[in-house]
Amino acid sequence: MHVIHRKGWEIPEREATPEHLFLNRRSLLKAGAALGAGTIAPGLSSIAMAADNPTAGLYPARANDAFKGVFTPEDVGARYNNFYEFGLSKKVYAAAEALKTRPWTIKIDGLVEKPMEIGADDLIKMMPLEERVYRHRCVEAWSMVLPWTGFPLKKLVDYARPLSGAKYLRFETFMDPKMASGQRSFFPWPYVEGLTMAEATNDLALMVTGAYGKPLANVFGAPIRLHTPWKYGFKSIKSITKISFVADRPKTFWEESGPGEYGFWANVNPQVPHPRWSQASEEVIGTGERKPTQLFNGYGEFVADLYKGLEGEKLYI
Ligand code: MTE
Repeated sequence: MHVIHRKGWEIPEREATPEHLFLNRRSLLKAGAALGAGTIAPGLSSIAMAADNPTAGLYPARANDAFKGVFTPEDVGARYNNFYEFGLSKKVYAAAEALKTRPWTIKIDGLVEKPMEIGADDLIKMMPLEERVYRHRCVEAWSMVLPWTGFPLKKLVDYARPLSGAKYLRFETFMDPKMASGQRSFFPWPYVEGLTMAEATNDLALMVTGAYGKPLANVFGAPIRLHTPWKYGFKSIKSITKISFVADRPKTFWEESGPGEYGFWANVNPQVPHPRWSQASEEVIGTGERKPTQLFNGYGEFVADLYKGLEGEKLYI
C-alpha cells in the first residue's frame, strides 16, 4: 500500500497531551518492549503484553513517519474506555480481562471470491504491521491521541478479493453473554458497524492489532479492532469476529440502539450537534483541557473527497 508522506498527518505537540503527561513515543515503546509483561507503568499489569501471545514478537512495529506525534500516556488511555460488552463504566479494563482472545478466528464472508475463516494470529502475521499515532474523538465529546499498531484495512480488502457487487463492509464483534456480562443487557447485541468500500479502502482506515508498542490489550478490543480517526469513536468496532462484504448498507449497533441520535456515517463535525449536546469542543482526557473540535477530526484533507455527491446524506450524525 502506498502511504503518502504528508505533513498534515502529523500530530504536533501543541495538539496533544501536555509534556508532563506524555513520554517520548519511541523511548516508551522501546522501554515497553524491553521490560515485557507487567512493567510498562505502575498499575498496568493487567493490560500488559500477554506472555503467551504468538504475535508478541512483532511489536513494536516500524513507525510510519507520516503519522508520528505525541500521545496520551498508557495509564490514561487504557483506563478510560468504552467497551459496553463489559459494562457501561469508563473503568472497564478489569472487567474486560474476562475476554478470552485466543483462539480467535475471523470470518470473512458475503460477496467475496472465496469466503474463509482465518485465525487472528495468522492474519496479523501475514499483514505488514506499522505504528500510527491517531487522534481519537468520541461522540461523547472527549478525545485522546493513541499510538496504534496495525495494518491498512485496504490490505484486508485486497486479501478478501471482493466481488463487484460488494459496496459495504459489515463488521461484527463476538457474541458471548456468558463471558461478556454487558451482552446480557438490553442493547441489540452483537455490536455491528459498517463502512462503504471507498471508506474501507481509504489510507487512513486502520485495522488495529496493538497499542503502545504491544499486542492490543483486552480493553482496547483485542485481538483486532478498527480505527477510522475521522469518524466518531463508536465506528471503531472492537474485538472483530466477522467481516462481511455486502451490497446493502448495514444497520449498525448504534443506529439500532438510538436511531434519532446515531447514524451510519458519523463523521466528526463541530457544527453538527448531537441532539443532546454540542460537538463544538472536546475534553482532552488526562489533561483537564477543552479544545475546539475539527471537521473530520482534522483529517479532512484526506477524507473529504469520500463524501462528494453525498451531501444529501446525514454525514455528521
Ligand atoms: N466496540 C465494541 N465492540 N463495543 C463497544 O462498546 N465502543 C465504541 C468503540 N468500539 C465499543 C466499540 C466507542 S463508543 C468508542 S468511543 C470506542 O470504541 C472507544 O475506544 P477506546 O476504548 O479504545 O478509547
